[in-house]
Amino acid sequence: VGNALLDVIMRDHDGLIDRLGLAKGAMTLVDQARAAELLSHMTGTIGVSGGSAANTIAGVAALGGAAGFVGKVGADRFGDSFSDDLESLDVDVHLVRAEPDGECTGRCHVFVADDAQRTMATYLGAANQLSPDEFPEAVAARSEIVYIEGYLFDLPPAKDAIRRIVALAHEHDTLVALSLSDTFCVERHRGDFLDLVTQDVDVLLANESEAVALFQSAGLDPALSYIDELGVLGVITTGPSGAAVAMGGGRVARVPAADVDPVVDQNGAGDLFASGFLYGLAIGADPVEAARLGSLCAGEVISHLGARPEVDLGAMAVTAGLL
Ligand SMILES: Nc1ncnc2c1ncn2[C@@H]1O[C@H](COP(=O)(O)OP(=O)(O)OP(=O)(O)O)[C@@H](O)[C@H]1O
Ligand SMILES: [Mg+2]
Repeated sequence: VGNALLDVIMRDHDGLIDRLGLAKGAMTLVDQARAAELLSHMTGTIGVSGGSAANTIAGVAALGGAAGFVGKVGADRFGDSFSDDLESLDVDVHLVRAEPDGECTGRCHVFVADDAQRTMATYLGAANQLSPDEFPEAVAARSEIVYIEGYLFDLPPAKDAIRRIVALAHEHDTLVALSLSDTFCVERHRGDFLDLVTQDVDVLLANESEAVALFQSAGLDPALSYIDELGVLGVITTGPSGAAVAMGGGRVARVPAADVDPVVDQNGAGDLFASGFLYGLAIGADPVEAARLGSLCAGEVISHLGARPEVDLGAMAVTAGLL
């Protein structure tokens, strides 16, 4: 469950990110007026369906998994194409539509710098309006894992929605997985995240800076120790050096990243790592095997522009001996 967004992507070769005053490498929330302003400065763009959890679920489907997506879009053509894209991947799509006079489909402006790092400015639009009663109980009931992107916490009604989703998951013995999404997002919602992780989360996904921000720890190792103490299965990605998995009882394993050359666009690295990791867990792989699958999927998505996989990840994993 996550934000349904249209990604508008461009390469930035000449410092547009700085000129627009955006925080490099981060996701900034913008209002409709600022979104329009940003778009007016963007050239050579491609528009594709995005959103962090939606990218992850596209990856799960590309691995051959049974996957669904819950989110909200506007009553506009972007909402249609978002839905069509996910359906074409065999994702079980549960999109709520805003009223015709309501918010339009959310949009994420993505700037990819020459070092492949991506900077994002997101106008949430309709994505920000998902309310608790719009989450279908049957979806939680038949899932192995309900995966929530941390970005959802930016939505005013979302805290209630997340509470209901988590309660439904617990009721149906479905695992609750949470991605911390972004360092600034963690800083905006640190208390809520800590409560959720302490009380409700079974599987925590984060990159290193997000984990450090959540636990206010002095680095990766103490963050892993906190996760261990909470009794949560945690995976912390560390960019080109791979990922660390905290499996409980003080057991921590390191899993290397894929060898990717050239890295074209970092966008989607964390999302696709989550695809492999969650799919692995859902089919009963151990957490280290699941993280290996995560590295493989992340490696594919950063080898091209855009945050959705471009190959049959299931076949790729079979070739790599991981499925
Ligand atoms: N340069 C790289 N080469 C190979 N793999 C990489 C590289 N960068 C990232 N990855 C893969 O992607 C995973 C996630 O990357 P990272 O830790 O940067 O997450 P992130 O910061 O959440 O990424 P995102 O930009 O999607 O938010 C890593 O664990 C690794 O498997
Ligand atoms: Mg990330």
